Amino acid sequence: MIFLGFETSCDDTSVSLYCTNRGIIANLVNNQFNIHNHYGGVVPELASRDHLNKISDLTKRVFEDSGLSLSDIDAIAYTLGPGLNGSLLIGSTFAQSLAWSMDLPAIPIHHLEGHLLSPLIFQKKFNFPFIALLVSGGHTQLIVVKEIGSYNIIADTLDDAAGEAFDKTAKLMGLEYCNGLEISRLAMLGDHTIFNLPKPMFNSDSLDFSFSGLKTSVMLKIKELKAHNKFDNLTKCHMSSSIQKSIIDILVRKSYLAIKKTGITNLVVAGGVSANNLLRSRMSEMIESVSGDIYFPPINLCTDNAAMIAFAASLRVQHNLIDLKNLKYNLSTKARWDLRSVNDIYI
Ligand code: KG4
Ligand code: ZN
Repeated sequence: MIFLGFETSCDDTSVSLYCTNRGIIANLVNNQFNIHNHYGGVVPELASRDHLNKISDLTKRVFEDSGLSLSDIDAIAYTLGPGLNGSLLIGSTFAQSLAWSMDLPAIPIHHLEGHLLSPLIFQKKFNFPFIALLVSGGHTQLIVVKEIGSYNIIADTLDDAAGEAFDKTAKLMGLEYCNGLEISRLAMLGDHTIFNLPKPMFNSDSLDFSFSGLKTSVMLKIKELKAHNKFDNLTKCHMSSSIQKSIIDILVRKSYLAIKKTGITNLVVAGGVSANNLLRSRMSEMIESVSGDIYFPPINLCTDNAAMIAFAASLRVQHNLIDLKNLKYNLSTKARWDLRSVNDIYI
């Protein structure tokens, strides 16, 4: 089966073709970073407008690049939520209009299900259950996955998400790009021992996360450094290195605790922050220490993309979790949507 996927939940417009036999055939992503970076965060209205400007050209291009045509498609998958309402509406409306015009099924997909299944795209064999550490700009959760569609959230963030902690501290430092990738680049040139930043909840038995204290501490430190004219480029590198270390120490520690509490040693790490190289190596070392197995998405599928949405739809179809004949077109979105209730929409 060939799935055409759409992802527009936030500030990436992505269109993809996924084939159950051949894997990913095409995956195009248009990032809106340059539109929003200037404002230090995503501006929802600008995000929706840019999705609208780009979605139809990207769709044409995936067909041109792959040599396929709309008549080769068996089903269309799109992100129903969670995310920004206006952004979701563009992808959902476009995908379903196309599906309606071709008399194809339109499959709504939960964005986080797309992320947490993405490491399986290139795995021939995979063992359930596993623990998924979902680390993105909006979420930081540990989830026990018994099978496709069975998601038990055992830890959540009490305030900011890990990606948000990277983004907000990058903004406080006045970095050119307010994101985790920029912090990880600067961190390579810095020394993490120069600043002793807090690791909220690190020593607590709770599996939950908290990152807002780290942000406040970075804000106060920068204020002090600036007052003494000491916030130069090298200092930004040291600060980046310490921020990255604090966030990663917390993520590794809580994942380790989750493994100890559940006895499950299969770990999936997914979402935008899983592109971080230090996180990948530290998590791999930790998993080796418990003789477990670890799975990451390839780097280009860590951040938002439609391939993971098309792939999640294909797994749902393969596992008989969707009745393609009974899917109805529905031009609504789910800007807020708890992963625990993901199956409700397919009933
Ligand atoms: O999954 P994603 O693309 O969007 C959401 O669903 O939120 O994740 C975006 C997040 C941003 O917070 C970004 O700063 C973070 O992923 N990110 C990184 C890296 N690349 C992206 N964080 C740390 N290190 C990276 N290399
Ligand atoms: Zn995402």
